[in-house]
Amino acid sequence: MKHQLRKIVFPTAGLGTRFLPATKASPKEMLTIVDKPLIQYGVEEALAAGMDEIIMVTGRGKRAIEDHFDISAELEANLKAAGKEALYQEVSRVARMAEVIYVRQKQALGLGHAVSCAAHWVGDEPFGVVLADELIIAEKPVMQQLREVFEKTGRSVIGLMRVPMEMVSRYGVVAAVEENDLLRLTDMVEKPQPADAPSDLAIIGRYIFTPRLFELLEETKPGKGGEIQLTDAVARLAKEEPVYGVLIEGNRFDAGNPMGFLMANAELGARHPQFGGEFSNFLRNLLQNN
Ligand code: UTP
Repeated sequence: MKHQLRKIVFPTAGLGTRFLPATKASPKEMLTIVDKPLIQYGVEEALAAGMDEIIMVTGRGKRAIEDHFDISAELEANLKAAGKEALYQEVSRVARMAEVIYVRQKQALGLGHAVSCAAHWVGDEPFGVVLADELIIAEKPVMQQLREVFEKTGRSVIGLMRVPMEMVSRYGVVAAVEENDLLRLTDMVEKPQPADAPSDLAIIGRYIFTPRLFELLEETKPGKGGEIQLTDAVARLAKEEPVYGVLIEGNRFDAGNPMGFLMANAELGARHPQFGGEFSNFLRNLLQNN
C-alpha cells in the first residue's frame, strides 16, 4: 500500500428519500446552504485537508453535480462582460478547484456498494470518504482532524461524535477502547435500538480507509434495509487491523433531511460575513412575533 493520502471518494448516488419531493429530480448534494451546494462544502473540506484527487460516485439524475464543477464558458464570459468580477472569480474558482473523476453506481444498492464502485480508481492506496449531506462546520476541517490520526498510525480512521442515547437508531454506532490516547474501534452496528447500542459514539460521515476495505466490501452481503452497508465491512476491517475513531470538533448538521438542512441554513446564514447581521435580526423578529 502506498502511504500518501490524496484520493477522496464522494458517494452521491443515494435516492434521498428523506428529502422528497425536493430530491426527486435534483441531487440532494446540490441542496444549497446559504449560497453554496452541499457538495461544494464537502469538496472544499477535502481540498483543505490535502485530498485533491476526487472520485465522485454518482447515479441517475446527478448531472447537476458534474456541471457544477465544470467550466461554464458562457456564464464566465457573461459575468466578465457585465463587470461582475467577484462572481466571475467565484464561478471560475469552483470550476477549477479540483480534478474530478465520475463513476456511476448503476443501482442504489447501499453506501458500501457505492464506495466499492470507486475501487478501481483508488487502487492500492489509502483514501478518504466524505458524505456531503453531513455538513460539518469546524475551525479545523474535519478531514484534516482525521488525517492527523492517519499520519500518526497509518490506519483507518473514522469520525465520531457523541449523541443522546435516544437518537442512536439514526446512526452507525461503535464500540471503542482507549489505546495510547486514541480510540480503537472494536465493533460497530448500523442504526441500533438504544438497548442494543454499544455506546453513544455515532459515525458522522467522514472516513479514511486502508485499501483492504475494498476486498471486504466485495464479500459484504446486503445487511440492514437490504443494502450493502459500509458499517458491516468496517466492522470486519476492525477485527483484522486497528481502526481508530476521532471525536471530531465541529458543528454537524444532517442536511440530508429538512430539519438539519434548515438548521444549517440558519446557522451559516446568521454567521454570513455580508448579511449575517441582517439575517440574525430577521430571525430575532420572527421568534418574537411567533
Ligand atoms: P443516505 O443514508 O443518506 O441515503 O446515504 P440516501 O438514499 O442518500 O438518502 P435517504 O436516506 O433515502 O433520504 C448516505 C450517503 O451514501 C450515498 C448517499 O448519496 C449519501 O451521500 N449513497 C447511499 C450512495 O451513493 N448509494 C447508495 O446506494 C446509498
